[in-house]
Amino acid sequence: MNMGTAAEVLQMDRWVRACRIEDIPRLGARVVKSAHGDIAVFRNAEDEVFALADRCPHKGGPLSQGIVFGRRVACPLHNWAIQLEDGCAAAPDEGCARHYAVKIEAGEVFLRI
Ligand code: FES
Repeated sequence: MNMGTAAEVLQMDRWVRACRIEDIPRLGARVVKSAHGDIAVFRNAEDEVFALADRCPHKGGPLSQGIVFGRRVACPLHNWAIQLEDGCAAAPDEGCARHYAVKIEAGEVFLRI
């Protein structure tokens, strides 16, 4: 086995602690800084947590400042509805924001970056 390659894979699949779930306003978001740019971490009414790049696929609006409804966020600039599960705009709009896997352990939110 090539150990260098295994180490690279581990680095690419890294869980990073972001915050506690109660640090995220319900129906809102908290911004987490990363090497990939700002990541918006959302919490909906059911306390589900989702993470997307904080850039709308339309014209780069800050999704973290949008309103969460169900499993979507309304972009604050032109009101596109972005699906929180995959970052993609709801039809008829098109385009996707990068999304990140999320896990919650003992109230701590981790992102796979
Ligand atoms: S920038 Fe988000 S809808 Fe236009």
